[in-house]
Amino acid sequence: MLMGKGNRGRGILLLLGFLACFEAAFGGEDGAVNLWPMPKSVSHGSRTLSLSKDFKLTTQGSKYPDDSSLLKEAFKRMVDVVQVNHIVDGRVPNSMVLAGLNVAISSADDVLKFGVNESYKLHVPAVGSLIYANIEAKTVYGALHALETFSQLCHFNFDKRIVELYAAPWSIFDKPRFPFRGLLIDTSRHYLPLPVIKVVIDSMAYSKLNVLHWHIVDEQSFPLEIPSYPRLWSGSYSYSERYTVADALEIVQYAQRRGINVLAEIDIPGHARSWGVGYPALWPSTECNQPLDVSNEFTFKVIDGILSDFSKIFKFKFVHLGGDEVNTSCWSNTPHVKEWLNKHGMNESEAYKYFVLRAQKIAISHGYEVVNWEETFNNFGRQLNPETVVHNWLGGGVAKKVVAAGLRCIVSNQDKWYLDHLDATWEGFYMNEPLINITEPEEQKRVIGGEVCMWGEHIDASDIEQTIWPRAAAAAERLWTPLEKLANDPTRVTGRLARFRCLLNQRGIAAAPLAGLGRAVPIEPGSCLKQ
Ligand SMILES: *[C@@H]1O[C@H](CO)[C@@H](O)[C@H](O)[C@H]1NC(C)=O
Ligand SMILES: *[C@@H]1O[C@H](CO)[C@@H](O)[C@H](O)[C@H]1NC(C)=O
Ligand SMILES: *[C@@H]1O[C@H](CO)[C@@H](O)[C@H](O)[C@H]1NC(C)=O
Ligand SMILES: *[C@@H]1O[C@H](CO)[C@@H](O)[C@H](O)[C@H]1NC(C)=O
Repeated sequence: MLMGKGNRGRGILLLLGFLACFEAAFGGEDGAVNLWPMPKSVSHGSRTLSLSKDFKLTTQGSKYPDDSSLLKEAFKRMVDVVQVNHIVDGRVPNSMVLAGLNVAISSADDVLKFGVNESYKLHVPAVGSLIYANIEAKTVYGALHALETFSQLCHFNFDKRIVELYAAPWSIFDKPRFPFRGLLIDTSRHYLPLPVIKVVIDSMAYSKLNVLHWHIVDEQSFPLEIPSYPRLWSGSYSYSERYTVADALEIVQYAQRRGINVLAEIDIPGHARSWGVGYPALWPSTECNQPLDVSNEFTFKVIDGILSDFSKIFKFKFVHLGGDEVNTSCWSNTPHVKEWLNKHGMNESEAYKYFVLRAQKIAISHGYEVVNWEETFNNFGRQLNPETVVHNWLGGGVAKKVVAAGLRCIVSNQDKWYLDHLDATWEGFYMNEPLINITEPEEQKRVIGGEVCMWGEHIDASDIEQTIWPRAAAAAERLWTPLEKLANDPTRVTGRLARFRCLLNQRGIAAAPLAGLGRAVPIEPGSCLKQ
């Protein structure tokens, strides 16, 4: 009675305004949903649900036993990031309460194989008083992606001080476009402490990247313990800038529990000067110490020892043997190596081939398939083992040649996907298409994915996060989202990417502003969303 018609009308208008405001959080310029990366298919409504304070994980209909609590821990992490460190102390209403999430996984197996089924369905209904969201996935790794997507639907309501999920009901079906979605880190040019690597892994999971390419050693330093050759890590920068085998195992396990494989690399025969600090016999001579001495059987024994130790730590089916930027002049400039070349009737480039092919055989004998940088393909083509995955980096157009030759390829052309190139823009990261000019379906399948590379010459623990993010996220969407759902014009996703960048900041990741070049600073005071 007290509220007159006019007032009630105003109340409804206010309410509509309020809802429109929530809608705006989801409707982008083109009605797009603010998820990153964009799922394969999404539909939603306009109702708001409140998350119960004891938001529950249930697993009815699941065949996955979760003996190692992989799913339980992922669920707990999801709830933590959703609350984004706010104190949730408001009163949850009695209706439209999201009581929990039911996760039904149809496979009991949680071996993180290459090409593991990462698809998922996420359904959030919007009727009833005690509502459960539903995730269906073939494997626990699909379920992890679903949890990440779910987390991006939730928001803290500052007026009510509870967590809400807007725009329900939601119906999402999702699966990745490519099985290999990588990020390279380089712990030779600068050592990266374990907690820093773990933060990188956490942040990869937020954008559904699934391979951490660990460029462990290079000419400057050798930080990893190798039990078969215990003096190798004498090549570390200092006594403490090292990883024990247990540390490496911890990285692998930490990543695996987030659906991420670790691709370990030794870059041979170039990029290996640090190996000789502990074992000088690996150098052609003390004056000319790179590439590794091709004439010495000991070189191949050490490679065998390293890969044998690797096979106990790095269970991913691929190992990376480098093979790039090999300057062989040391070989013919060093008398005993030159003599060996003559005796075997090899010139420098034949010796380079001999080295690469012999190292491939050693890796294969330890159960690995080999990834090599593109120079090995540019020089030796089909003479490489037919299972070789060629890792592009020099420029565009390489993948097309590789897949035409029947080999597989990972795309990382440096002009677009090298994060250490600070002048490479997020727009360029977004628009770099791995299948450019490749039209045959059989050839397209041989492009297993792509990788963004965070080379470490000018990056260490102090600036790695803001150099990786947000540009790596732009590539992550290119690698995850179906081609037909990607924007042809990157300005169409600026708002959504800016939002994802702010989400990373909220989760404690030092992602840099979008405006400007890589690792930019905020240009002026203003909302995170406007930088
Ligand atoms: C992945 O699992 C889903 C759900 O079980 C299934 O429909 C799909 O065919 C699977 N994809 C592949 C590539 O096996
Ligand atoms: C290769 O190495 C030699 C000797 O170490 C050096 O003089 C030469 O400039 C290098 N060549 C290239 C192309 O870097
Ligand atoms: C090395 O030998 C191969 C095979 O005989 C030949 O094709 C190549 O041109 C030689 N390379 C150089 C640099 O002499
Ligand atoms: C793709 O093909 C076009 C037309 O032939 C060519 O101009 C372009 O350079 C190619 N791009 C790549 C990355 O190969």
